[in-house]
Amino acid sequence: MIERTLILIKPDGIQRCLTGKIISRFEDAGLKIIGMKMKCIDENFAKKHYTEDIEKRRGKFVRDKLIGFITEGPVLAMCIEGVNAIENVRKLVGDTEPRKSMPGTIRGDFAHVTYDYADGKNVAVKNLVHASADKNDAENEVKLWFSGEELHSYKTVHDVHVL
Ligand code: PPS
Repeated sequence: MIERTLILIKPDGIQRCLTGKIISRFEDAGLKIIGMKMKCIDENFAKKHYTEDIEKRRGKFVRDKLIGFITEGPVLAMCIEGVNAIENVRKLVGDTEPRKSMPGTIRGDFAHVTYDYADGKNVAVKNLVHASADKNDAENEVKLWFSGEELHSYKTVHDVHVL
């Protein structure tokens, strides 16, 4: 099933100059970038991205850290399209906690910290990217970050050779 999902390269990914390497992971897998922009967001916007649901599941401490971190500098937002894109993108990104993400994944190759370490330092876990967790999140997050005109329809070689 063709799906759309949202990826954010967070301020640590931008500041570590890893954007090209991260983007290529998705392109190499044959996924299609149908929208992309760099954006600085304010606290109000960040609260719409990291919703109250996160506070319910992970606590106010975690949500506040996430909001503080994502508003710290520009982020690169991408809407990615492909077969089972939500699940496939999460597979390429790796486990949310870098300590658990496997080598070969973005987080496994470029990060390693633990939740305990980040929480002890009172900072957000620097895990480079955010990827929509499921169909519902993907729909809401793509809508939040991109207008209809910012999403594009075109063919890549993958439409012939990979799909
Ligand atoms: S996910 O991706 O929605 O399934 O992730 P989830 O486990 O629900 O976590 C949501 C975001 O909260 C961050 N998180 C934490 N940060 C710091 N300390 C602790 N203990 C912690 N637990 C969860 C996690 O990095 C997720 O943010 P993103 O931006 O998706 O990585």
